[in-house]
Amino acid sequence: MPDHAAKGRYSVVQHFAVAENMMRLTIESEGELPPYLPGQFLHIRVTDGSDHLLRRPISLCTASRIHKQFTVVYRISGKGTKLLADKRVGDTLDVLGPLGKGFPLHKGDRNVLLLGGGIGVPPMVELAKQLTIQGVKVTTIVGFQTASQAILIDDLSQYGEVLVATNDGSLGQKGFVTQYLTEERLAETDRFYACGPSPMLAAVQKATGEKAVGYLSLEERMGCGIGLCAACVHKAVMPDGSVGYRKVCKEGPVFAAEEVVFDV
Ligand SMILES: Cc1cc2nc3c(=O)[nH]c(=O)nc-3n(C[C@H](O)[C@H](O)[C@H](O)COP(=O)(O)OP(=O)(O)OC[C@H]3O[C@@H](n4cnc5c(N)ncnc54)[C@H](O)[C@@H]3O)c2cc1C
Ligand code: FES
Repeated sequence: MPDHAAKGRYSVVQHFAVAENMMRLTIESEGELPPYLPGQFLHIRVTDGSDHLLRRPISLCTASRIHKQFTVVYRISGKGTKLLADKRVGDTLDVLGPLGKGFPLHKGDRNVLLLGGGIGVPPMVELAKQLTIQGVKVTTIVGFQTASQAILIDDLSQYGEVLVATNDGSLGQKGFVTQYLTEERLAETDRFYACGPSPMLAAVQKATGEKAVGYLSLEERMGCGIGLCAACVHKAVMPDGSVGYRKVCKEGPVFAAEEVVFDV
């Protein structure tokens, strides 16, 4: 196993619903937490039985070194996350990670824009926290299909202004997160960080273009999570400048925005 892939057993200390089909899970380690960065993910084994041996990747939402805890927020979407949702306080979980490349923080940034769509919102919380500690002014734009799916707005509001968009207009402005990317806002942004479904990331890439630099965090179906199986590849600019396929689990999930190639 690569040396970056710490493996640990964690106890479930909190697990509750936060929105329609969305759960917030806090797990605690007996020992010190492994090193972590915002934007990395935990590869969680959802059962101890032979069924569903595969792990499920879930982004780190927050972490506390003092309490030795990681928190994730996830959507119950299929068999794996349904099994995870059955875990009760006191149960233990086998967790690999944190894995992947997180969001790089840059010294000297003053105004930063975070963009999260749906289940892409959770990693923005730890990122907002760490940026705020560094003295950066954070503005977060979050998008959901509808108000009943909105998550983490109060958590993010601790770190700065939060602008909300919903597809049906039931919360915040009607429409997509990209409508907040005005020329004026981009002009005063040192860097942006985005995570969400591919169509949203492609729209963010298009809207920012030459006007702002930043990062996109991709979500791909995964197998091993540590660079061995190639289940997670996404079209991207390779280190030599050609276009090819890069492993999201190991080379990402965070990429410089201009490196990602979308087929849309
Ligand atoms: C790096 C990374 C970070 C992630 N962080 C989070 C997170 O913080 N919160 C969260 O809720 N989810 C997150 N996901 C997505 C999560 O891993 C999937 O929802 C989960 O694996 C689904 O497993 P399942 O067995 O419940 O569903 P499956 O039965 O495998 O699939 C059910 C449905 O979910 C869709 N789906 C499955 N996997 C993905 C995926 N990776 N991306 C998009 N759609 C998928 C399928 O198309 C299908 O419609 C992340 C994925 C990656 C790769
Ligand atoms: S999930 Fe196996 S290489 Fe990325």
